[in-house]
Amino acid sequence: MQQASPRAFNGLVTQGWNRAARLYNTPILQRLAYRPPQDEIIAQLALNRARRIVDVGCGTGILAARIAADLAPEAVYGCDASAGMLKQAIARSGRVEWRHHRAEDLGFPDAAVDAVVSTHAFHFFDHRSALAEFHRILVPGGLLAIVLNNPTGRFARALQSAPIQRLAYFPPPSEMRALIEAAGFTVTEQRPVQRYPIPPVLVPDVLTVARRD
Ligand SMILES: C[S@@+](CC[C@H](N)C(=O)[O-])C[C@H]1O[C@@H](n2cnc3c(N)ncnc32)[C@H](O)[C@@H]1O
Repeated sequence: MQQASPRAFNGLVTQGWNRAARLYNTPILQRLAYRPPQDEIIAQLALNRARRIVDVGCGTGILAARIAADLAPEAVYGCDASAGMLKQAIARSGRVEWRHHRAEDLGFPDAAVDAVVSTHAFHFFDHRSALAEFHRILVPGGLLAIVLNNPTGRFARALQSAPIQRLAYFPPPSEMRALIEAAGFTVTEQRPVQRYPIPPVLVPDVLTVARRD
């Protein structure tokens, strides 16, 4: 059984997000950086007709609030380890159940949800613990959809250096696939997020979709 252990220094990371929470909602940042992956996740959820959905590392709650408004499922949960980010989320929508929980210990009963989604947060999680937790709370056949940056070139090497990895690590797509499958999922789709007007090469993020076995 996996330990529900966060990544080293995750407390520092989430304290940092407490401070960044207000800036995070800046419309230009949201439009250019965060909206395209959110569009992809909404499309996946609509396709799969998921009824009980968890957004893990939900931040200020923009995606979870959109899921509630656009898809009107039975239940939407937004989970984050940063109280500052969640404060913004709570002010945003009363249609989402906001939960102060880490990805590695989400506090749901077994097989409680149909879909787990996460955008631009998985790099902060302890990957194996978080994936074990997603597997535990999902029904068999449940949907997992994760968007993660795939930094390449020199920038990537700097980001993947050992000290930085203690705060965040971005598994490249092949490693992401292997991690997800080792946790008891079957990967059904993996491709770059479609972005306009910024070409994906400038913000190289990748969507990975899987089914819980
Ligand atoms: C870049 S923000 C992304 C927010 C949101 N998903 C979005 O796309 O707008 C990353 C979020 O991950 C959260 N986070 C970091 N480590 C976490 C953990 N172990 N469990 C849950 N949330 C975590 C941070 O507090 C922060 O709100």
